[in-house]
Amino acid sequence: MNSYATDLSTIYEAYERIKNVVHRTPVQTCRQLSRHGGADIHFKCENLQKVGAFKYRGASNVVLSLSDQQASAGVVTHSSGNHAQALALAAEQRGIPAHIVMPSNAPQVKQDAVAGYGARIILCEPTLESRETTAAAIVAETDATFIHPYNHAGIISGQATVALELFEQVSNLDVIIAPVGGGGLLSGIAIAAKAINPAIRIVGAEPAGADDAFRSKASGQLIAQTSPNTVADGLLTSLGDLTWPVVRDLVDEIVVVDDFQIISAMKLIMERAKILTEPSGAVSYAAAVKIDFESADTSVACVISGGNMNLSRISELIENCRDR
Ligand SMILES: Cc1ncc(COP(=O)(O)O)c(C=O)c1O
Repeated sequence: MNSYATDLSTIYEAYERIKNVVHRTPVQTCRQLSRHGGADIHFKCENLQKVGAFKYRGASNVVLSLSDQQASAGVVTHSSGNHAQALALAAEQRGIPAHIVMPSNAPQVKQDAVAGYGARIILCEPTLESRETTAAAIVAETDATFIHPYNHAGIISGQATVALELFEQVSNLDVIIAPVGGGGLLSGIAIAAKAINPAIRIVGAEPAGADDAFRSKASGQLIAQTSPNTVADGLLTSLGDLTWPVVRDLVDEIVVVDDFQIISAMKLIMERAKILTEPSGAVSYAAAVKIDFESADTSVACVISGGNMNLSRISELIENCRDR
């Protein structure tokens, strides 16, 4: 048997650790969106998770797993997105320092959100190399623990708790669709869900402009994403060496959607189901619309992974989408 970054019993332990600090997010349905998707669709609303994204699950699991000695030196990451906010909040709740390396072009609202959780922000050049060397320098200077946004066993275990809740909230689930960036969420869900019900179908939803998981799976080899380009800004990253084997072995398929399909899905979800989703969060439903399900009764969970975006950006995206 293959061994992966985590397993079901470790995921249950993670859930015990975090269940009193994370929100058990609701599952919502909408008849019109089910009809449009050709299945019985359930939206797992991680846009309503603390910090507005599932990322708080993994971050709090890792921060709560640190020994007191490790914790006292704090945590470090490089991220301009939801992981930065999630780690900053998890650190604040444990009362330990968080050092967040952000590219100098990260929007002010994101810097403000991270600073609002009391984290120290270190700006760097907007390149992966600069982010990595800056984070390494902070680790050397402070002895803080580096927490990777997805290629980390504790992060994957935390994200996997989405699947544990889904099994409790929806009976007889046939399919789970989750977005894939670096694959922390998707691989965690796949490990938990296949261990609970090997017959369940796990689908990764990926933007066409960052389709490294699709290409990796098609070729059987990990292919890194170069120059990603998509409106789904949480999904720009490449799979890592912990997430790739899970996507390769336990994910049934990756469905690729273009930006027009993502924005159309986002608009429908907001208009019909009243769920505020960011583009990355709408990718799972965009994929559902593309899939030909066996019957309208097929029970499908779409993970709405996050809801963080400027309100003015929503109308801008929808206007541009209309022009196409
Ligand atoms: C809203 C949202 N959805 C999905 C993802 C992708 O998660 P992962 O990198 O674990 O695949 C991210 C990552 O930042 C995100 O912020």
